[in-house]
Amino acid sequence: QHALAMTPEQVTSRSIMQTQLIKINPAHPESDLIQIAAQKILDGGLVAFPTETVYGLGANALDGDAVSRIFTAKGRPSSDPLIVHIHSLDQLNQVAIEIPDLAYRLAEKFWSGPLTLVLQRNESITPAVSAGLNTVAVRMPSHPIALALLRSANVPIAAPSANLFSRPSPTTAQHVLEDLNDRVDIILDGGRVNIGVESTVLDLTQSISVVLRPGGTSLEALRQVIPNCVVRNTYLNAEESASSPGMLIKHYSPRAKVLLFDGERESVLRLMVDEARRHHRAGVLLFDEDGEEFDGLGVSVSRLGSESNLAEIANNLFSAMRDLDQKNVDVILVRGVKREGLGLAIWDRLLRAAEGNVIRDT
Ligand code: TXA
Ligand code: MG
Repeated sequence: QHALAMTPEQVTSRSIMQTQLIKINPAHPESDLIQIAAQKILDGGLVAFPTETVYGLGANALDGDAVSRIFTAKGRPSSDPLIVHIHSLDQLNQVAIEIPDLAYRLAEKFWSGPLTLVLQRNESITPAVSAGLNTVAVRMPSHPIALALLRSANVPIAAPSANLFSRPSPTTAQHVLEDLNDRVDIILDGGRVNIGVESTVLDLTQSISVVLRPGGTSLEALRQVIPNCVVRNTYLNAEESASSPGMLIKHYSPRAKVLLFDGERESVLRLMVDEARRHHRAGVLLFDEDGEEFDGLGVSVSRLGSESNLAEIANNLFSAMRDLDQKNVDVILVRGVKREGLGLAIWDRLLRAAEGNVIRDT
């Protein structure tokens, strides 16, 4: 149903598997179910599991064949590196080398949680994980199911978001099934995730710390530890993406074209209504505050929540995009959010979904 461009080689190498969906308690994961999933990881299989940010598609990070299955399942280019997940600081040494003091200070404050650190890669981590780079991205997730799986398998687990390449990240097991049915051995269904956007990726291998992807840990919080850390606008500057593979401009995208509007609320809403009239089937990612603005226009709406509640918007963002896709709209209109706290990550995902196209009110 979700046609995906694959080379004939990829089609034949793709092993046919039957996906097992396992419901599991998100607060107190049943240990017998965790053990089944952990064994699958150790056998070289693929297990999708919830983290506090989005669902991940996991494989043993020490096993090159297992890791290559992740790329095939997602249809992800092998030039796009993955994040390695760990359950303890002890495990960090298995993943990275020459770990700076700053990494431990950040870990103390933000782990377990939605912060990914880019460090020098330990050779025990298969190079496929890092797309051949000598660095590695690593994080300790806080979700009880993710931690239980990591402890039970007791190997570092490489896991990108469990969506097909370029699709919105999955925030429910149902989204994973939509994208990866028959491409993953097990899906641990722990219900909806807590945050809804991915972790913040912070590169510690350069002379100054660089945020490569804004996410669940805010820039303001990071700056309390690293006052001079900077954010790189990878998505707006295609040339820069060479140093961070996988930061492609089109990402996190619904199938429909996305138009992102920015500026003063009243004038932006007028522009959006005009745009909606121009389309046969427009969809709107709607804030509660904009309630009736699109009534009577034959527009499909999907609600993001209150404009003032960034956590709620983050939690609804990807599922709302998928929802509008299922309504077969030909364009999706959305107003930007304030770029503070979680808002920076939300803005980043909207901007990428819109492929960098912003319509301003002036
Ligand atoms: O919240 C998350 O981070 C989720 C959950 C499952 O943990 N994972 C996730 O993975 O979003 P993924 O593969 O969708 O995104 C990984 C990001 C990419 O933007 C990639 O370019 C960057 O991390 N990355 C990974 N390794 C890197 C490296 N060695 N150097 C620079 N960037 C790297
Ligand atoms: Mg992803």
